[in-house]
Amino acid sequence: MTAPLYPLLRERLVPFGQEHVLRWWWELEDAQRSELARQIEAVDLAQVHRLFHEHAHAGLELPFDWDQLEPPEVVRPADTVEAWEQEQQAWAIGEQALRQGRVAICLVAGGQGSRLGHDAPKGTFPIGPITQRSLFQVHAQKVLALSRRYEVPLRWYIMTSPDNDAATRQFFAEHGYFGLPAEQVEFFVQGTMPAVDKDTGRLLMRSKWQLALSPDGHGGFLRALRRAGILDELQQNDVRWLFYFQVDNPLVKVADPLFLGQHISRGAEVSVKVVRRRHAQEKLGQVVRYRGRYYLVEYTEIPPEWQQRRDPSGNFWLDAGNIAVHIFDVAFLQRVAECDSQLPYHRAVKKVPFINEAGECVEPDSANALKWERFIFDVLPLAQQVLVVETDRAEEFEPLKNACGENSPETVRAALCELYARWLEQAGLRVPRDRSGRVSVPIEISPLVALDASDLRGQVEHLGEICSPLLLEHARDQVSANSTCQDLVR
Ligand code: UD1
Repeated sequence: MTAPLYPLLRERLVPFGQEHVLRWWWELEDAQRSELARQIEAVDLAQVHRLFHEHAHAGLELPFDWDQLEPPEVVRPADTVEAWEQEQQAWAIGEQALRQGRVAICLVAGGQGSRLGHDAPKGTFPIGPITQRSLFQVHAQKVLALSRRYEVPLRWYIMTSPDNDAATRQFFAEHGYFGLPAEQVEFFVQGTMPAVDKDTGRLLMRSKWQLALSPDGHGGFLRALRRAGILDELQQNDVRWLFYFQVDNPLVKVADPLFLGQHISRGAEVSVKVVRRRHAQEKLGQVVRYRGRYYLVEYTEIPPEWQQRRDPSGNFWLDAGNIAVHIFDVAFLQRVAECDSQLPYHRAVKKVPFINEAGECVEPDSANALKWERFIFDVLPLAQQVLVVETDRAEEFEPLKNACGENSPETVRAALCELYARWLEQAGLRVPRDRSGRVSVPIEISPLVALDASDLRGQVEHLGEICSPLLLEHARDQVSANSTCQDLVR
């Protein structure tokens, strides 16, 4: 690398007090200098400076007055004949959109999964109760099953981050894209933001030639979609709706026809699926209404008294918990992607390893850094029409977040077993349950066998009573109820 680069970089850094990142410049190899120069040029130093000074000593940076918030209008599951008929109509509309190829699917999988402690992309985590199939495999097989059901190759976009992109692509390649044609799947990489020292605002460095960068939040999805040319591709292919979900929830109803139909028939630009909270501290963002617009407020930003507040009937006052399943109109995404600087940055105080002035790696014991992320749901107030649909969490929400306790592998596998057991019971089978009503044998049904209870009809009646682990891996499997788990896996 040529010497003149140094003064240019310095000139860029000095006005923001960040020239320390060049401290080791003269001992770096050419390739390392290039890498550092590339990273410095990619950072918007003025923005980092502004974010640090705006956010450093502020409390919650919410745009509204809490006393003026209202709960949103929510479409609840049908409980009358009329509502049920409306659901049937919406279902048909959603199915038609799918069959006509007007729907694409987007998975955000760029997060770091640090709470889970899994040292690989979260989607590679083995979650199947019997087979240990990965989260990615569950989602891929749903996309494949839907493509078969609607006789259309549903386009699947997967957002990764620079940290996990190569590993994610490799995992898909090693597993033959789980049966999907490779050209049906497209990966795109989100951007990054630098971490700074929480007290000084100075950029932290991961090594002598690398800044400490992390993914810019799933709000980075908008810019990344546009940069990868995906928004144009969707419009050119006349895809009108994008079904969006996150990697951690294997119960998700991918491209749910009912939700799609509800979105389309209500003329919404953005739709959000929600559930009721289990307890006041549950880590669910909440949909709220404020001066006629919808917002999604992240759980970390809701003051405790509002988390706990109840209405006169004893229900939580804020009770439209975000399960991170959305539908976006592609035209709406085009519109907001052109002015995505409107999306705010949210601040997080985190532990970020860094190298100190002596060039030694430091693993901090407590939070030492500020990071900023954008959230995709901050587009809600920009939409003319937002639809909020409540769903039954037992049917479609148990995310994998933690290594143990709530939302852990144990609770997710149990939720999957319960879901499959209910499908089998609806098909007329008897499933063993313990005294507290929990399913007492592991059950796993591949998405290629069934996406819902109705898909099982005609496939399982011959099984009669289930008394040992049951795996349904292939459609119309000739499995016997007395087979052992091992027999079935084989
Ligand atoms: C998220 C939602 C929360 C919701 C909950 C439901 C946010 C900020 N909050 O919380 O409102 O109630 O899920 O489970 O999303 N991701 C990226 N790139 C990033 C950051 C995240 O792709 O830069 C992806 C992750 O891979 C994951 C998803 O976004 O699929 C959610 O991120 P996570 O940090 O796990 O959010 P939660 O705190 O669990």
